[in-house]
Amino acid sequence: MKVRIHTLFQYLLDTTTAEPEAILGFSLSQSPTLGDFLPDLDPTLPLDWNQKSFQGLPALRDAVLAQAGLSHLTPDNVLITAGAAEANFLALMQLVQPGDHIVIETPGWPQAAVLGQSIGADITRIQRHEADNWQLPLQALSDAVTPNTRLIFLTNPNNPTGALMSAHDLAQIVTIADRVGAWLVVDEVYAGLEWQGPRPPSIAGLYPRGITTGSGSKALGLQGLRTGWMICQDKAIIMDAVILRENSSEIMNIMGEVIAEIALRPYRLAAALTRARADAIANLDRLDHFIATQPRLSWVRPQAGLIGLARLAGDMDAETFARRLLAPPYRTFLLPGTAYDQPAHIRLGVGGGAAVNLDLGLSRLAALLDTL
Ligand SMILES: Cc1ncc(COP(=O)(O)O)c(C=O)c1O
Repeated sequence: MKVRIHTLFQYLLDTTTAEPEAILGFSLSQSPTLGDFLPDLDPTLPLDWNQKSFQGLPALRDAVLAQAGLSHLTPDNVLITAGAAEANFLALMQLVQPGDHIVIETPGWPQAAVLGQSIGADITRIQRHEADNWQLPLQALSDAVTPNTRLIFLTNPNNPTGALMSAHDLAQIVTIADRVGAWLVVDEVYAGLEWQGPRPPSIAGLYPRGITTGSGSKALGLQGLRTGWMICQDKAIIMDAVILRENSSEIMNIMGEVIAEIALRPYRLAAALTRARADAIANLDRLDHFIATQPRLSWVRPQAGLIGLARLAGDMDAETFARRLLAPPYRTFLLPGTAYDQPAHIRLGVGGGAAVNLDLGLSRLAALLDTL
C-alpha cells in the first residue's frame, strides 16, 4: 500500500525554505566536520564496493556492539543501515504483514505508525501521559498485547518527551512481549544522552526477539553520514533485512561506514560523548530556567536526549503558534506538538551548538508568548 505523509514530515517540508534565524528544539548534538576525521582517513581508500560485506564493515559492527554494551553478541548480529530510520524500516517491513497486530506508543516516533498503516496492520497506541512524566504505562502495554500481537515498537529514550525506560521497565516489557512471542523493536537512537542515571541496557541483549535500532545521528551529530544499525540475536532477521535492502539501496555507502567506524573508536567516542553531554546539560539548564520564568509554559524536563515537550497555556494550537514564531519578526523554528498528536505542546530542545542561536530563539519565543 502507498505510504502516506505524516504531519511531522509535512511540517518539515512546509518549512524547509523558511531560513529561520534561530532554531529551538534542535535534536542533534553539534555536528563534527569532515576535517575532524581527515587525520584518520586513508586517501587511497577505493570507493568501489568489491569484496565488502552486505552487513557492513566488520570493524564497524564490532564497534556498534561495544558502544551498546553488547560485546557478547557477534558482528553477525549486526546490520549497518542508512540511519536508524532504515533499520526501523527494514525491521517493520519484513516482520509485519497485513492484518497483524502491532503496538506502538504515543507520543512517539511516527515511523512505525506510518509504515504500519501502509502495510494494513491493526495498530494499538499506548498513551504516555504528561501527568505520569510521560512514562510508558506498563499495565496498559500488558493489556494491549494479545496472542495476535506481532510486534511492539518503542523508543528509548523517547522522542519527543525524553522519558527513559529503566532496566527494570525493560525487563517487564520483555516479559510482556515474550508472553506472546512478539517482536520488540526498541529505537535507541538517543542512547548515550542520559541525564539521571546510566544508559539502560539495549533490548537486543535482553530478549532473543529484541531488535535494537540506532545510529550516530543524535549523540554524535553524524546525521548526514546516514550510518546506523540494527542489532538482533536472530540472524534470520538480519538476513531478511539484507534481502529487503537488496531491492532498494542494495548496500551501504562506503564513506559513511568508514567515517562511522572512526567516530566509534573508543577514544573518539568517549571525547565526543563527553563534549555532547556537557553542551546538552548546560543548555538544558538554561532551557529549564527559561521555562520556569515563563507563565505560559511548563514541561517535564527530559530524563534523556536533547528534546522535550513544553505545554502551551491558552487556546492557541501548537501549529498556529509554531507558524507564527517562524514568520517575521520572530523567525524562529520549532516543531509543533501537532506533529506528535499533542496540539497543546511545542517541542523544545538544546542540540545544534552555537549555530542554532538558542538564546536569540528563546528571547523571540518569550516575545511571542508575551503577545498571547
Ligand atoms: C526516534 C528516532 N528514530 C529514528 C530517527 C532517524 O534517525 P537516523 O538519522 O539515524 O535515521 C530519528 C530522527 O529524528 C528519531 O528521532
